[in-house]
Amino acid sequence: MRYVFVRRIIIIISILWVFSMLFFQMIYSTKGIFEKVNHTYFADKLLQNKINLVEVSAKSDDNQSFIKYTRTGGITTDVISHFENHMVLRTKNTNEERICSCGCCQRKGKSVTIVTALFDIGRKRWPSYKRTYQDYLNFAQNVLKLDVNLVFYVEEKGRYFVEKHRQGKEHKTEVVLTDWKNFTFYNYLSEMETIMGSKEFKSNHQQLNNPEGFSPLYNFLMSAKFFIMYETTLRNTFHSDYFFWMDAGYGHGNSDIFPPEDCPWAPCNILNDTISYIRLGPTDVYKPNINRLYKMAVPPVINGGFFGGSKKVIQNFYKLYKDVLEDWLKNGRIDDDQTIALACYFERPSLFNLVPGGWKDVFKLFN
Ligand SMILES: *[C@@H]1O[C@H](CO)[C@@H](O)[C@H](O)[C@H]1NC(C)=O
Ligand SMILES: *[C@@H]1O[C@H](CO)[C@@H](O)[C@H](O)[C@H]1NC(C)=O
Ligand SMILES: *[C@@H]1O[C@H](CO)[C@@H](O)[C@H](O)[C@H]1NC(C)=O
Ligand SMILES: *[C@@H]1O[C@H](CO)[C@@H](O)[C@H](O)[C@H]1NC(C)=O
Repeated sequence: MRYVFVRRIIIIISILWVFSMLFFQMIYSTKGIFEKVNHTYFADKLLQNKINLVEVSAKSDDNQSFIKYTRTGGITTDVISHFENHMVLRTKNTNEERICSCGCCQRKGKSVTIVTALFDIGRKRWPSYKRTYQDYLNFAQNVLKLDVNLVFYVEEKGRYFVEKHRQGKEHKTEVVLTDWKNFTFYNYLSEMETIMGSKEFKSNHQQLNNPEGFSPLYNFLMSAKFFIMYETTLRNTFHSDYFFWMDAGYGHGNSDIFPPEDCPWAPCNILNDTISYIRLGPTDVYKPNINRLYKMAVPPVINGGFFGGSKKVIQNFYKLYKDVLEDWLKNGRIDDDQTIALACYFERPSLFNLVPGGWKDVFKLFN
């Protein structure tokens, strides 16, 4: 009885095994036909995947049967494959998620404008957090490469650089030539200077060695983002429905986090009437101390490098930000935009969509 049972089991397992072998053989051979293609054909497939052939270069390793496809122009390896009998066998696509869904927002019929600015505030002479203007120009190349409608506020000394790096994208570029001294809201700077020079501000301030603690111009320009955004929605050069700020130095030169250059990008999954920001940590613990936060050594929770939403919400946020900023100045408080935006959030949480993430996660989270 027991023996018969075991024998049946063995027979069933054998049948399953034979079937599974046939089945896998089928898959394998299908894969073989699909993947065993010659070089030309493979390059065509890359093209279909929106990987531009011109930008594909082949590199052989020591092993002659091994070939790597990389994209030049700062974008890392997209496809690794190796030759076998002069056929290309696609083995690994390390960057699959980077093959973008080009034109998602065009399909939805929505237009997006990205806004940024770059001004030399003499950072290379700072006691700490030193960076040169040239560092920032280098960083800005990644933002300039974005295939987006781009509004770029810049002073005369950076104008040529910006225009040069938008060649071919002139129809998607608005360069706003200005000095920060010419901003309509310039009057806030002197208020910030007075506050930051005061004894009250400096007493028990734990961040006096940080830009937010020692540079009025820094704080002024961080708050300028909201005025620049507002003005941009009023001009609305590109007839956009949505506006997003991105720091000109976003990613600090790390091109790997940016989408491929030839691929239109837009934060399609956050196009609504809320202000989206990346939240770097829990917010509510700071609520009781929000008006003392500017003196406290706590890590930022709002990532000021990127934010935005619909035209309507940008204009509402501008008014809220201006009210909070003026209240802060009246009470001798000032900090960078990240702390003031957090105060705005506590004031009107329903205006915001805070998405948990890291400093460099914009393109990972929003597309
Ligand atoms: C490469 O493969 C494609 C598709 O299989 C074929 O049409 C073409 O003739 C091949 N070219 C060479 C040089 O073998
Ligand atoms: C060369 O490539 C073949 C095929 O992928 C692989 O089996 C072999 O291990 C490689 N040899 C070396 C030295 O990497
Ligand atoms: C800023 O304003 C001053 C005085 O009106 C003017 O001379 C200067 O050209 C302006 N700068 C820019 C870049 O528009
Ligand atoms: C806006 O979009 C985000 C992300 O899709 C979503 O979580 C949020 O609920 C939306 N807010 C409104 C008011 O539609």
